[in-house]
Amino acid sequence: MSTRFHLAWFTNFTAGDWTGTFSHGGSPWDGKFYVEFAQALERACFDFVIFEDKLLVPEAHRGSTEATLKYAHQVPKHDPVPLAAIVAAQTRHLGVVPTMSTLGWPPFMLARVSCTLDHIAGGRFGWNIVTSGEDMAAQNFGMDKLPPRDTRYEMADEYMEVVNQLFDSWEDGAVVKDRERGVYADHTKVHPIHFKGKYYKVRGPLNTVPSPQRRPTYVQAGGSPAGRTFAARHADAIIATANHISGMKEFRDDIRERAARLGRNPDDIKVMYLVHPFLGETTEEAREKHRRLVNDPVSIDAALAGIGQITDIDFTQFDLDKPLPHKLTTNGESGALDKFQQFGSGKTLRQLASERYDSGLNLIGTPDEVAERMGAAIDAIGGDGFLLSTPFQRLNRRVVTEVCEGLVPALQRRGRVRTEYTQPTLRQTLREF
Ligand SMILES: Cc1cc2nc3c(=O)[nH]c(=O)nc-3n(C[C@H](O)[C@H](O)[C@H](O)COP(=O)(O)O)c2cc1C
Repeated sequence: MSTRFHLAWFTNFTAGDWTGTFSHGGSPWDGKFYVEFAQALERACFDFVIFEDKLLVPEAHRGSTEATLKYAHQVPKHDPVPLAAIVAAQTRHLGVVPTMSTLGWPPFMLARVSCTLDHIAGGRFGWNIVTSGEDMAAQNFGMDKLPPRDTRYEMADEYMEVVNQLFDSWEDGAVVKDRERGVYADHTKVHPIHFKGKYYKVRGPLNTVPSPQRRPTYVQAGGSPAGRTFAARHADAIIATANHISGMKEFRDDIRERAARLGRNPDDIKVMYLVHPFLGETTEEAREKHRRLVNDPVSIDAALAGIGQITDIDFTQFDLDKPLPHKLTTNGESGALDKFQQFGSGKTLRQLASERYDSGLNLIGTPDEVAERMGAAIDAIGGDGFLLSTPFQRLNRRVVTEVCEGLVPALQRRGRVRTEYTQPTLRQTLREF
């Protein structure tokens, strides 16, 4: 029997599809659109939804905020944490995973809000752990420059130690709610942590009741060697971007090896690949949709602005019709940069931009065709699932319906994905298979 795999969706609290024929209008700021969207994912038995986040108005592209604001695909971006609360309150099974940066959140506040949200979500709360990748984000938090990547991960490792100690600062049984004795919580079971590290100093204890999962489900996307080790040490799920089956298999094998070396069971970590399927009633309809996107001159510029924003690189300095002059590096999102630049392929920058949303798996076609290819890819990679998204995060109800009522049923008919939820918490849902 072929193995089942996991599904999640990657989006953000932005204007979404505000220009398309099937646009929802571009003002989803009361969160209701995202609640309905999450309910559709839940009907389709997705494991979780992630809300991506950044903490700046980027200026990398042409040294200006113009592209960012004009295209509205990174800004405006509203805070995903309150959104996660309303989504969690209006769903029952779906995991809800907002992004919070260790750069911006003091560990005590992060642990406290995570605990609060895991209660609201009944054990379905996840944290997408990021360290941020832009100097301009750092400048919103009193720094002139972002610390180098390896320092960020060293800080993040210590940060995890702090929050894990805070989550454990209430022993099991600390909440007694004994009406007769008039005792809500037993003070002998709630302990300060007195954490004093290189970067953080936190007294504790947490002032919240332990939540159903105690610690949120940890999601991470480390791409660099330090990032991969961090993810292998802490994550329950890793969201990754890679080209072709070979790149995906290399990444997963490497993560599993690192996890085993760190003494973890590699099966406790699910690696999920970011993909952007194009679906149609017919193969030709799906191909036409894809052609329209890649041939649109605006989408080339928007793709370059998009990759520029997350790598702090101004791609307008390069000739669009020549290959990149040398291999680029970044203190920002290195995995996304490596996937984008396909170094050594000889492709022009224009080609690279047109392939920004291509995973090399050819997920363009009817739901049945795409379902077949997704299944074959997972069999070759070894697991564990896909993180579905839309180019430029341009979400609308039509694409949600195509996936939830076309692609997912095609996968379910093949026995490849979940048809029901059987576990009470997100972490257990991920470990079910
Ligand atoms: C699918 C995916 C989603 C990500 N989401 C975010 C995000 O919401 N916010 C953010 O600051 N970084 C995000 N990142 C960046 C990662 O946190 C990480 O910085 C990046 O993968 C590079 O890894 P490295 O730091 O190990 O080089 C994401 C990366 C991937 C692949």
